[in-house]
Amino acid sequence: TVEEKVENLLQKMTLEEKIGQMTQFTSSGDVTGPTLRGNVEKEVKAGNVGSLFNAFKADYTRKLQKMAVEETRLGIPLLFGYDVIHGHRTIFPIPLGEASSFDLDAMEEAARIAAIEASAEGIHWTFAPMVDVSRDPRWGRVMEGAGEDTYYNNLVAKARVRGFQGDDLSKENTILACAKHFLAYGAPIAGRDYNTVDMSLQTLHEVYLPPFKATVDAGVETFMTSFNEINGTPSTANPYLFKDILRDQWGFEGMVVTDYTAINELVPHGTAKDLAQAGVQALKAGIDMDMEGAVFLETLKESVEKGDVTEEEINVAVRRILTLKHKLGLFEDPYRYSDTEREERLVLCDEHKEKARDFARKSIVLLKNENQVLPLKLENKPKIAAIGPLVKSKKDVLGAWKAKGSPKDAKSLFEGLKGATRGKAELLYAQGCKLDGDDTSGFAEAIEVANQSDVIILAIGEARTISGEAKSRSDITIPGVQTELLAELKKTGKPVVVVLMNGRPLALEKEDELADAFLETWHLGTMAGPAIADVIFGKYNPAGKLPMTFPRNVGQVPIYYNAKNTGRPFDPENPSGYKSNYLDVPNSPLYAFGYGLSYTTFEYGEITLSSNTTDGAPITASIEVTNTGDYDGEEVVQMYIQDIIGKSTRPLKELKGFEKIFLKKGETKTVTFTIEKEALTYFRWDMSEGVEAGEFNVFIGTSSDQVKAASFTLTKDYEVGKKNYN
Ligand code: IFM
Repeated sequence: TVEEKVENLLQKMTLEEKIGQMTQFTSSGDVTGPTLRGNVEKEVKAGNVGSLFNAFKADYTRKLQKMAVEETRLGIPLLFGYDVIHGHRTIFPIPLGEASSFDLDAMEEAARIAAIEASAEGIHWTFAPMVDVSRDPRWGRVMEGAGEDTYYNNLVAKARVRGFQGDDLSKENTILACAKHFLAYGAPIAGRDYNTVDMSLQTLHEVYLPPFKATVDAGVETFMTSFNEINGTPSTANPYLFKDILRDQWGFEGMVVTDYTAINELVPHGTAKDLAQAGVQALKAGIDMDMEGAVFLETLKESVEKGDVTEEEINVAVRRILTLKHKLGLFEDPYRYSDTEREERLVLCDEHKEKARDFARKSIVLLKNENQVLPLKLENKPKIAAIGPLVKSKKDVLGAWKAKGSPKDAKSLFEGLKGATRGKAELLYAQGCKLDGDDTSGFAEAIEVANQSDVIILAIGEARTISGEAKSRSDITIPGVQTELLAELKKTGKPVVVVLMNGRPLALEKEDELADAFLETWHLGTMAGPAIADVIFGKYNPAGKLPMTFPRNVGQVPIYYNAKNTGRPFDPENPSGYKSNYLDVPNSPLYAFGYGLSYTTFEYGEITLSSNTTDGAPITASIEVTNTGDYDGEEVVQMYIQDIIGKSTRPLKELKGFEKIFLKKGETKTVTFTIEKEALTYFRWDMSEGVEAGEFNVFIGTSSDQVKAASFTLTKDYEVGKKNYN
């Protein structure tokens, strides 16, 4: 059995060799933190390394593997990790963009393709999915998650784990997934990356933990610690997270790796006086592998000798690491992933690029379409002005965490427009301005080009380098003079289609006012250009919905749809004083969670419940949806629930179901959701989980702020249990 093989090997290992297995270093490739180690190849040969990250290409990973297998005493193969976040070389939309599709199968497939490409280059393990819920667009890493909603994050988390790991880890085209960052990394104070997290245990359990539990349910093999502290304890030294919750309550048997130098950071966090103490704290918290920091490597042996940790505590971690290597089949064939033939055949193949294009179209959200400007018609050979600093960009469309995606393989918006209009329209171009800075010298040319045209397509937004890790912003408007350029172009009187490219929700009040049509395209990946062109010219009818609220201004942040009512809720119909509101901005967002238009229109009927009361047995809520517009199209029908009175206060609305449907012009479909009592439970202040009898609202609609309502009564309490958090 695998257990016996692991045990046999463990018996043969010296303490140093064991600690080596618990050590991970970055190879010469991408560096995602301060680099601490010089000659990695020397470390491999010395048996000081169990895993490398940022090494890729079949040939190179094979070369490194050979060193471990042939030049160390026991020949234990290396585990190769990498941040394969939204594709490996064929790049898909940034995860927040993918999440706008509300298409779980597509997300699973994108992760599968990423795994196929990465594994062919020798990679065994991705540091994804990031399942951190986040309600703060200032935080640069919102681009890497599925947005603000816990229920939706749970489903996306499972889909992505299934995609990366497939159904059989021993196949050489599957890779280990890693649920990160445990825990609450998405809730740093003021949205500043790595900052302190301080929140109630109720919120932790109800909002931030469930997506991680979902990954465990989906069979995720590894977890990563987060950089932040929570309520006074850094995650990387927190046994409550890794022992009590992850292992004891959830039964997780896989391996836990730290984030980059996170053990070293226990010293500046102020829980450890030196690296030796930091190493002890991390090991005792349940951490198995030290990413990049070399703390285990440099201090654990002495800590064993001093009696601060036991060799058995080290054995526990090493067993988990060796077990994973067995599961991947590396002891049978250490080189099975480094496959030049597969690499050549599969990486960036046409099929993957077609899938990337299709997924990119699905991820686009139509925010505004005044006078049905879109889709643009090509019948009369129009003159189209393509303007803006992002029109020709091939690098920004790849987004942050683009793995080995290369601009030379990416298609810009301009290329997409050219392909779609060849012989059918005249395409003019001006850059207009840069992505940042105050230089307006390009405006004149842009205005001239606009004046010669029938319609303007303006591509503006964020560079790929201002979202992602360590890319927090305190101002979430569009940088530089891009909005001024939009205002100038608007004055020409020509219709302006704004194509926004960005890595986070932005404050877009001005742009929303100025644009005739407004497309949120995020950073869509390798096939961004053709995908956007498909939408602009109506080859594809957009159906994306926002997975995160767009505020009116940064002062509203954090703003999220599933907020509480407060004791003094503001009523815009009766705006008398001393209510919970701002003096200078409404409480409502610019675009709500779940919002997104289509070229067609959908009409919702009234909700029909199978029963108005239930003792806890499932009931159904149905609604008719009709395509009342001029195009066939897809709609994400969303169901929300509100527990009106509870022992603890409850949100005004919580997403509890959605279905993406396709309706032909004029067609009607009935969508039915099942409501189970488990969907109603929540955590009270005493950490008991359950739900009390009482009245509930059910809302169904096209977005979180446009819904039909009905209500039902739960006639019996239902208790799940009580969490122990000592
Ligand atoms: O996987 C990442 C993590 O999400 C942030 N710090 C660096 C790691 C490795 O690149």
